[in-house]
Amino acid sequence: MKTIVFICLIVNAFQVTFSSLVSVGDFNKDFFVTWSPDHVNTSSDGHERSLRLDQQSGAGFASNDMFLFGQIDMQIKLVPGHSAGTVIGYYLTSDQPNRDEIDFEFMGNVSGQPYILQTNVFADGFDDREERIYLWFDPTKDFHTYSILWNLHQIVFLVDKVPIRVYKNHADKGIAFPRWQPMSLKVSLWDGGSWATRGGHDKVDWSKGPFIASFRNYKIDACVWKGNPRFCRADSNTNWWNKERFNGLTWYQRRLFRWVRKYHLIYDYCQDNQRFKNNLPKECSLSKF
Ligand SMILES: *[C@@H]1O[C@H](CO)[C@@H](O)[C@H](O)[C@H]1NC(C)=O
Ligand SMILES: *[C@@H]1O[C@H](CO)[C@@H](O)[C@H](O)[C@H]1NC(C)=O
Repeated sequence: MKTIVFICLIVNAFQVTFSSLVSVGDFNKDFFVTWSPDHVNTSSDGHERSLRLDQQSGAGFASNDMFLFGQIDMQIKLVPGHSAGTVIGYYLTSDQPNRDEIDFEFMGNVSGQPYILQTNVFADGFDDREERIYLWFDPTKDFHTYSILWNLHQIVFLVDKVPIRVYKNHADKGIAFPRWQPMSLKVSLWDGGSWATRGGHDKVDWSKGPFIASFRNYKIDACVWKGNPRFCRADSNTNWWNKERFNGLTWYQRRLFRWVRKYHLIYDYCQDNQRFKNNLPKECSLSKF
């Protein structure tokens, strides 16, 4: 009897250890190409990957594993020069009928005009939660780090560690929050010319192509889905994102967050009374962080 208990403990400990992944690195190992392999280049060490959009096709890749909570970082260099109509998606998605999704979408622009970074959260299949900002740097000149922190308490979108958006868990007040469905990480570059730039005014100009975006030095520090949410919800050393201090923004992060909203926010669904006919979604009246 004692031995059985002991063995169970060991097995449990191992599952906890192995259910969390720290992956720093090799695109060939952690991802598969979902779309158009001949439009994907990967450096020989696997640390850097680029995607190409031209008249034939865009391209994309997705993680081999699915995750439930964690933090994901990816360094991205957006399409330089004329990129109007092109869209880069970098997102977590559960791919279920009532899907959960945590999205970064980068919408290109005509030469010299700013990219828009749009974020969105789908919970139980419901989206309509767009926010848009201009970045405070030129995202096509260098690589910058775009991160998602996701735990039971909040989803935080970060750009170079600056929190640009928080979606808090208000499930106790009846607001859907992604917390049951594991998600995989996906990246793609595609033609969004029908809507992306100035509402579809600026279509992709193929004569300015090919359009190339680059990705490198990603880090996936997340709970790998093995069919049992218990391990991913546990507050353990490996699941550091579940620790109490990640339940909300720190004092310093709140300052940065307010700065982004004050100077860089261009659209927030929670301010769009017209669209929601003066009936804004319920979470809009609750605390943001
Ligand atoms: C891959 O490399 C080839 C040869 O240098 C280049 O023509 C092509 O545009 C590159 N594609 C991407 C996705 O970077
Ligand atoms: C593109 O540039 C125009 C003019 O500066 C701006 O209004 C728009 O928000 C920019 N971004 C997109 C994706 O349309």
